[in-house]
Amino acid sequence: RKIYVLNGPNLNMLGTREPEIYGYDTLDDIAERMEDAAGRAHVEIDFRQSNHEGHLVDWLQEAHAEGAHAVIINPGAYTHTSIALHDAIKGITVPVIEIHLSNPHAREPFRHKSYVGMAAKGTIAGFGPMSYMLALEAALEL
Ligand code: DQA
Repeated sequence: RKIYVLNGPNLNMLGTREPEIYGYDTLDDIAERMEDAAGRAHVEIDFRQSNHEGHLVDWLQEAHAEGAHAVIINPGAYTHTSIALHDAIKGITVPVIEIHLSNPHAREPFRHKSYVGMAAKGTIAGFGPMSYMLALEAALEL
């Protein structure tokens, strides 16, 4: 079983990017923790990041074509803008779990709408890097 973990724009800057909001863990730290947990559960993690919307669309389609067990996605700011990601998720059968480090509903109004959340199976937000681990736990139960 393989679980894709897709990360959108600016998440490569974790650790130094607005740490008061996103914390000091880097994306590599998070990837490592997820891979450890996945190894214990005997699943494979494919962990990726891109600043480009189209790459995220391609990877969602790839996860579907490859018969992935689930996709966990932190779409970054594309969460709030991307009809392309919404449509990509609608167009595939693999379950998609939306995650966020912060709680977008407790932040600026422009973060309150999620095109991804409207298409996802469910959303986990506001728990920092633990959002990723909780999503993995949910994905394993699917
Ligand atoms: C984020 C929340 C988004 O609103 C923001 O644009 C991000 C990160 C989060 O993980 O909290 O880039 O997805």
